[in-house]
Amino acid sequence: MSGHSRRGSPLYLERLGLTNYRNYETLNEDFSAQLNILSGPNAQGKTNLLEAIYYLATGKTYRPARDLQLIRWNHQAFSIQGKIRNKQGYVTLEVLYKIGEQNSKEIKVNGLKIYKTSELLGNLTAVLFAPEDLNIIKGSPLERRKILDNDISQVSPGYFLKLQQYNRVLNQRNYLLKKIRERGKGFDELEIWNEQFLELSESIILKRINVLEKLSPLTRLMQRKLTNGQENLEIRYLFSRQKELKLNHDLKKVLLEELEKYRGEEIKKGISLWGPHRDDLLISLNGNDLKVYGSQGQHRTAVLALKLSELEFFKAESGEFPVLLLDDVLSELDQERRGFLLNIIKEKKIQCFITTTEDIALENDRITIQKFLIRQGTLIKCRGGK
Ligand SMILES: Nc1ncnc2c1ncn2[C@@H]1O[C@H](COP(=O)(O)OP(=O)(O)O)[C@@H](O)[C@H]1O
Ligand SMILES: [Mg+2]
Repeated sequence: MSGHSRRGSPLYLERLGLTNYRNYETLNEDFSAQLNILSGPNAQGKTNLLEAIYYLATGKTYRPARDLQLIRWNHQAFSIQGKIRNKQGYVTLEVLYKIGEQNSKEIKVNGLKIYKTSELLGNLTAVLFAPEDLNIIKGSPLERRKILDNDISQVSPGYFLKLQQYNRVLNQRNYLLKKIRERGKGFDELEIWNEQFLELSESIILKRINVLEKLSPLTRLMQRKLTNGQENLEIRYLFSRQKELKLNHDLKKVLLEELEKYRGEEIKKGISLWGPHRDDLLISLNGNDLKVYGSQGQHRTAVLALKLSELEFFKAESGEFPVLLLDDVLSELDQERRGFLLNIIKEKKIQCFITTTEDIALENDRITIQKFLIRQGTLIKCRGGK
């Protein structure tokens, strides 16, 4: 189908294939472009399936596991294949990971091997909402930064490349700082790395603030809708975990000041003490730090608002809503929030995968629901759709 006639139709994963991925021996399944409900008891492969979809979107797992550990036990390779419909028409994506003399990972887009993960990004976009996301508010700055970094990477592969570069430069810089501490030499070399460090820091932080200034109003709107206008949610960028940064600030100057401020201490400690890898997000509710003052329920609502605003963010950036993956979180929401969520999925024509251990009653007409049962790595499609 031509690009033109696809305009306005939703992005979705039409078919997923797995071979020796986690507890799946083989899977080949067609999905509904709207709502897919995957139900089954614990440890059957529900999360594994969402993980595989997210892998196709981002080129990696979001869970703390290495590629090697995703291979079904006692096997040598796994593969994930997806047939996606997006604004380009049909796109096929394939990941093949193999154990060998050297372990190898091959990614193909429309049958052609790609050499950088950044070339995969943007074909299938996905927003995931999993139980561990409820810790976003209380967890470490890393977890908050990860939301921004993952989202931005999916819609701006250039940002993903910058992050990779930054991490390399950071490692080099840390190595050098340690060397200087131990041997008292290498200062000239440090100046060279500092230049790159500053440049990459600036571009990463600038992009993050830019995105946050779009995301924060969306999140605020969602929170207001979810709380009948009672709660004002705000997300701000915290440089070095304490200084609020906005777009109108002279970023270059701020970074240079930080470089000077930490110069001595960094050499004494042998490690980089500032930079995008140490920044944070300040999430506040009605003006108070949500992490410190919020109730459990407020955290939950805020995370839902954040996830829903991510959908809008993707749409604004790429022209398409992402696929929404809800892992075991529907049972955490009350009837009203569920209804709110389902309405969004229905109205915006978002493809959604919901996993659940209970039989959830979804009162919603005019939305196509495809149900599946998951039993030990096997999917059983329920007939009759609804
Ligand atoms: N590499 C692997 N090979 C085989 N089985 C695996 C692998 N990794 C995880 N599993 C199995 O997958 C199951 C968990 O699947 P998961 O999708 O997390 O369950 P749930 O349905 O509760 O979401 C466990 O039984 C676990 O032993
Ligand atoms: Mg699970």
